[in-house]
Amino acid sequence: MTRDDAQPTSSEPTDPATPSPVTSTVSPPSAARGVRGADGIEIRKVTEAEYPDWMRAIAVGFLSAPAVTEAEIEGRRGGIDFDRTLGAVDAGRYVATYRSFPQTLSVPGGTLPSHAVTNVTVSPTHRRRGLLSRMMTGDLAAAKEAGTPVSTLVSAEYPIYGRFGYGPAARATSWSVELSRTGLDSRWSGPRDGGRIDLVPLDEVRKTGPELYTRFLARQPGAVSRDERWWQLATGEIQVPSMPWNEPFWAAYRSASGELEGMVAYSSDHKWDEAKQPDNTVTVEQLFTVSPEAERALWEYVCSLDWASRVRTEGRAPDDLLPDYLPDPRAARVRTHSDFLWLRILDVVRALEGRTYGVADSLVLEVRDGLGLAAGRFRLDGGPDGASCAPTGDAADLTLDAGELGALYLGDASAVRLAALGSVREDRPGAAAAAELMFRTARRPWCPDVF
Ligand SMILES: CC(C)(COP(=O)(O)OP(=O)(O)OC[C@H]1O[C@@H](n2cnc3c(N)ncnc32)[C@H](O)[C@@H]1OP(=O)(O)O)[C@@H](O)C(=O)NCCC(=O)NCCS
Repeated sequence: MTRDDAQPTSSEPTDPATPSPVTSTVSPPSAARGVRGADGIEIRKVTEAEYPDWMRAIAVGFLSAPAVTEAEIEGRRGGIDFDRTLGAVDAGRYVATYRSFPQTLSVPGGTLPSHAVTNVTVSPTHRRRGLLSRMMTGDLAAAKEAGTPVSTLVSAEYPIYGRFGYGPAARATSWSVELSRTGLDSRWSGPRDGGRIDLVPLDEVRKTGPELYTRFLARQPGAVSRDERWWQLATGEIQVPSMPWNEPFWAAYRSASGELEGMVAYSSDHKWDEAKQPDNTVTVEQLFTVSPEAERALWEYVCSLDWASRVRTEGRAPDDLLPDYLPDPRAARVRTHSDFLWLRILDVVRALEGRTYGVADSLVLEVRDGLGLAAGRFRLDGGPDGASCAPTGDAADLTLDAGELGALYLGDASAVRLAALGSVREDRPGAAAAAELMFRTARRPWCPDVF
């Protein structure tokens, strides 16, 4: 993962402010508490007393300021489950970090429990000695043993996690909209469908946001659950120095019948040009909705703000409707477009039975897995109403690595394309096209959150 904690926005991490640094070292235990390698480095669970040293190691790995303040430690402590927090200790110091937490992942036709991985770092003094491999292989085996069907993470760099069986499962696109070119009606004064938009105070966001997000999650494959802490961070109730919080404006859309159907959180800079014209960039930090009407109304709202020259978004679905709401879609320019959510299948049967498929069909998949967790041959019988999956001795239709299955799983990757790339082997002619029709989804998956 790229970040030190579940985050309310997808902006890049910032350095911790560093007054009153806390320094501590970990006493080498007389006997290993975890698993000690031939190099003497021990992979073990972190204790509460060791947590400041573990956090210092995160700062080193993420090139943040090395001194970690009490405020930082306290601010982050609530997000840590020490039972799922690992590190590597060498000569009495943490030199690698790793943490997991339970998450709900939205998949086509349902949701699945996921083993989310975060806070992955190895100090530069100890890189490329297999410490990540040791932490991750042990942790994924334990997650599979515990019955979790999939694992998820957001990868800082593309080449890190493919070797562990993860595949890029949902991409993200961020946009910049030049407001002078949108062609939107300059006299726009609110939704034209009988709905209304209101600004929402933070206590109301905390009350109504989670329920709205749960409804959004159910309809957005790739989205992940937000716990209470997520909302506390997003609304400033918990503040962490390395994640400076500036209160955004929150606005909500309600339909003509009064139903809450969407929320947006946005902030602005404060610029005037030499001709005394306001020249602000509005950043849309959040925009999630459960109806096209709410989505249209909230985009029109932010794209009609007086004093704003452009709107920038955080990572959105690659097929976001935003550009096409605008009479001139070219007013919206892609800023970044990249892999974002990575997914690893741990339990093929549970994962494949956990989603629905575009068309009813049957496929035999030979799954290869360097870690052995998902390896085997499976028959999938699936369709729009559900699926069954079981190990089989029948001839395979498609042979693929666990990472490719992860990339296909949420409906984003194309089996035909992967076959053309040589990443998926078609053992029966036409099987890639059949897999394409089953796995692909009309709308692309999207994960709005960095975690
Ligand atoms: C990414 C990171 C955790 C890797 O840790 P590590 O202990 O060096 O990894 P390992 O030694 O277990 O490497 C296993 C394999 O992956 C490769 N690998 C690891 N990180 C890689 C990277 N960033 N780019 C390319 N290959 C990488 C190694 O070369 C090695 O390959 P090999 O098996 O062919 O020899 C570490 O470099 C790091 O902390 N980077 C900065 C912070 C970061 O990006 N964290 C990840 C957040 S999502």
